[in-house]
Amino acid sequence: MEIEFVTAKAAVAGKTAVARIVFEGAGLDGQLARAAAASRFTGQKGQTLDILAPEGEAARLVLVGAGKAEGFDAVGAEHAAATAYAAVKASGLEVLRIELPKADAQLAAHAALGVRLASYRFDKYRTKEPAEKKPSIGKAQVVADDADATLAAFTPLAALADAVSFTRDLVSEPPNVLYPAEYARRVKALESLGLEVEVLGEAEMETLGMGSLIAVGQGSVRESQLVVIRWNGAADTSAQPVAFVGKGVCFDTGGISIKPADGMEDMKWDMGGSAAVVGLMHVLAGRKAKVNAIGILGLVENMPDGAAYRPGDVLTSMSGQTIEVINTDAEGRLVLADAVWYCQDRFKPKFMVDLATLTGAIIISLGNDYGGLFSNNDELSANLLAASVTEGEPLWRMPLPAQYDRNIDSMIADMKNTGGRPGGSITAALFIQRFVNGVPWAHLDIASTAWKKPSSVPTIPDGATGFGVRLLNRMVADAYEA
Ligand code: BES
Ligand code: MN
Ligand code: ZN
Repeated sequence: MEIEFVTAKAAVAGKTAVARIVFEGAGLDGQLARAAAASRFTGQKGQTLDILAPEGEAARLVLVGAGKAEGFDAVGAEHAAATAYAAVKASGLEVLRIELPKADAQLAAHAALGVRLASYRFDKYRTKEPAEKKPSIGKAQVVADDADATLAAFTPLAALADAVSFTRDLVSEPPNVLYPAEYARRVKALESLGLEVEVLGEAEMETLGMGSLIAVGQGSVRESQLVVIRWNGAADTSAQPVAFVGKGVCFDTGGISIKPADGMEDMKWDMGGSAAVVGLMHVLAGRKAKVNAIGILGLVENMPDGAAYRPGDVLTSMSGQTIEVINTDAEGRLVLADAVWYCQDRFKPKFMVDLATLTGAIIISLGNDYGGLFSNNDELSANLLAASVTEGEPLWRMPLPAQYDRNIDSMIADMKNTGGRPGGSITAALFIQRFVNGVPWAHLDIASTAWKKPSSVPTIPDGATGFGVRLLNRMVADAYEA
């Protein structure tokens, strides 16, 4: 999607749809007032009114409701622009011109971001889509008070849109294509952005003693990988880094504790936490963030096989703690146990945030719009929650009660990998907490939000959401950049 900022004086070109974004209750006049009255269009958030062949230059005019003027913010501008895009994307027209009711640089730049995010599509495996079904809008022209200032405000947002698209692509790829080594190669290619990427194979992980992570991938013909991504953007390149760790289960069959067939294809998405970490590192590099950051990805495939790990196995993790496997489908925490321990042991970070599509139980707790936040640190939680509100990626803080911790005590080892159905997301988080070694830490269970089908947000097409990239980028920018 090409993005252009122009002033209101710029002429409307041919094949253009004009989207006029209007506040609720703002007076329309003439033809528009009559059209609105004939269709109950009042300017409420999300409403649209399509006027074909209006008077003037535009081929089509879409009124888009933005709700009340008072509450209109950056996310509101994104949603209105995304709604406008959805209304005309396959109309055959080529340009979408967006006219905001308030067009300062931030709002106009966010409108452009809204179109970038809404026009994301994963269509590389379609070979027979008829041309008239394909999106035709190739350019968004956003009218802004000051086109140059808006372009400057848009630069970091363009980096964000690129990163979110990269994350969505990773999550959307089928599991026969995106297995751990291929995933690691794609991350390695991001060195062109200025990131440093190290890839550890099973032999190196063995030497490090990562018996927990390795066990999960043991039944797969694909080799497990641990990827370390570094961005050194702080003025002091030796300053203590911030760190992010992601669950990257490229496919989760459940292993020997195999999942039911129905919906199993969704488990290609079980690497969504790691993909959000990749997206975050992508945007930090893309906008040259003034921070030192580490991203760690634990990449495995969880398969049933003669060589697979079993319920009953006892694993020795890198931390030295032993784990009795009760259910091989509770594999994400086993991957994170070693990845998180390795992260704090090697990098001594200011804090660690892990992201994982960890439990079905978080979907039961929070539904599909909120991710679960678990943390041992109030300041880190507050920073995450603030960023989540600003960016429109909702989180809800969940408890880590010490009295539930004994639910994961084992009869024969230091712990077991499941704590039963009650509070399943909480005991999963308590399990990870046993590997953070007291470092300030937060765990985001994004099983609820990593994908949406169908989506409830105009900037997120159905499928992979990229959830986490925006909120972490915002948190780093607001709280941890020098
Ligand atoms: N990847 C799943 C969690 C998941 C489930 C994500 C549904 C998205 C949608 C995870 O590895 C898993 O299988 N968790 C089990 C844990 C249980 C065996 C303790 C679960 O949630 O059922
Ligand atoms: Mn599982
Ligand atoms: Zn899983």
